[in-house]
Amino acid sequence: MVSITSIKSKKLSGEIFVPGDKSISHRALILGACAVGKTTIENLLESEDVLATLNALKLLGVNIKKSKNFWEIRGNGQGSLKSPDKILNLGNSGTGVRLLMGLVAGCDITASFTGDESLCTRPMKRVLVPLEKSGAEILSNDFKLPITIKGNKIPIPIKYSSSLSSAQVKSCVLLNGLTSTGNTSYIERVKSRDHTEKMLHFMGAKISSKCFDNGSNKVELAGLPYLKGKHFNIPNDPSSAAFPSAAALIIPNSEIKIKNVCLNVLRTGFYETIKDMGGYIKFINQKNISGEVVGDIQVKYSQLKGIVVPEKRVPSMIDEFPIFCIVACFAEGETVMTGIKDLRNKESDRIKEMVENLNKFGFDIKSTINSISIIGNKKINPGREIVIDSKFDHRIAMSFLCLGLLMVNGVKVKNAETINSSFPSFFNIMKSLGANLKK
Ligand code: S3P
Repeated sequence: MVSITSIKSKKLSGEIFVPGDKSISHRALILGACAVGKTTIENLLESEDVLATLNALKLLGVNIKKSKNFWEIRGNGQGSLKSPDKILNLGNSGTGVRLLMGLVAGCDITASFTGDESLCTRPMKRVLVPLEKSGAEILSNDFKLPITIKGNKIPIPIKYSSSLSSAQVKSCVLLNGLTSTGNTSYIERVKSRDHTEKMLHFMGAKISSKCFDNGSNKVELAGLPYLKGKHFNIPNDPSSAAFPSAAALIIPNSEIKIKNVCLNVLRTGFYETIKDMGGYIKFINQKNISGEVVGDIQVKYSQLKGIVVPEKRVPSMIDEFPIFCIVACFAEGETVMTGIKDLRNKESDRIKEMVENLNKFGFDIKSTINSISIIGNKKINPGREIVIDSKFDHRIAMSFLCLGLLMVNGVKVKNAETINSSFPSFFNIMKSLGANLKK
């Protein structure tokens, strides 16, 4: 067990690179395995979650190796996977397991999936229900891991309308559609991150999406696309960048720049909300790389005002709510977040963990099944070190370490090794900005 302690720090300053984007990294590996020919990946996030997907693909017979600064995949086309001779263990990664289940269900193979203590409690019904429509045979215990899937060689094209706004469910269905002969169609309530659609288009698939007046989004994919191997240069992760950004926003006199970050509008809800609260956030040097907008984020310490977060923005800041709660604790007045029930299904129940742990400091935070409200208070000082258990949730761990940077008696996060699932260099990068962190 690794513990990390953070304690009151002076201003943060400097220029940093956070690691490559986690969502795009998983997809580059999986789609590279489905392409014909060579795919090369630059700036792959080499974190535990992504390496779990990489290892699972190797067990499925995919040829992946690292050469100098690139990862190289020799793909044999969608449907070319073999049945693994071991159970596929995706560790902590919901994205890895849900996307790979979609892929396996569309191939003439059988594979079993499992994960760590946290992943084994997470709901898989959301992907198993649409996958059953494709003709795959699925064995699970109440829709939880471990799960065995016997794929259908020529899957029935899925037509599915989901009540969720989930890029994992959408991507699972689209990956299944790669081996079906007809059109796959998927409707989501509010548009979620669209990296899978963009990458499939870049590789040659016929894929379209259409947003309706009520905010819902329909994606259609033509079956059996010829996917060409490509070069992916992965932009840096805006969800990882949110941690140093948040710390800079709340530590007086801070000013930092985070370079080459993915600024896809379906990922920048946290930054837009901070701007609406009066925070200094600037996106500069924007360019387009392989269909994604990439740029630098400039952040300065700011006096923030509480806000009611618009519900339609929830999918574009879904991973940032834990660290957003920390920022809201330092805003003037009340901040209200609604429509966030799915936070209870993440690596931990994030509503419960944020409320219980912030209460330990004396912050005024309340929740319902679907919401959180916080009244900011810059004067909080619990007068002792506060100990937090990460509960195998990397974002809970990093959020409370950022909060500790304002606490005279510090914050100790237990089971902090979970940070390696998404941001292995968090400790060193934060220290390089001046954060007072100790192992
Ligand atoms: C992800 C989608 C989101 C997000 C997760 C990554 C993805 O999950 O929370 O960290 O890469 O598709 P949901 O699809 O469950 O909202």
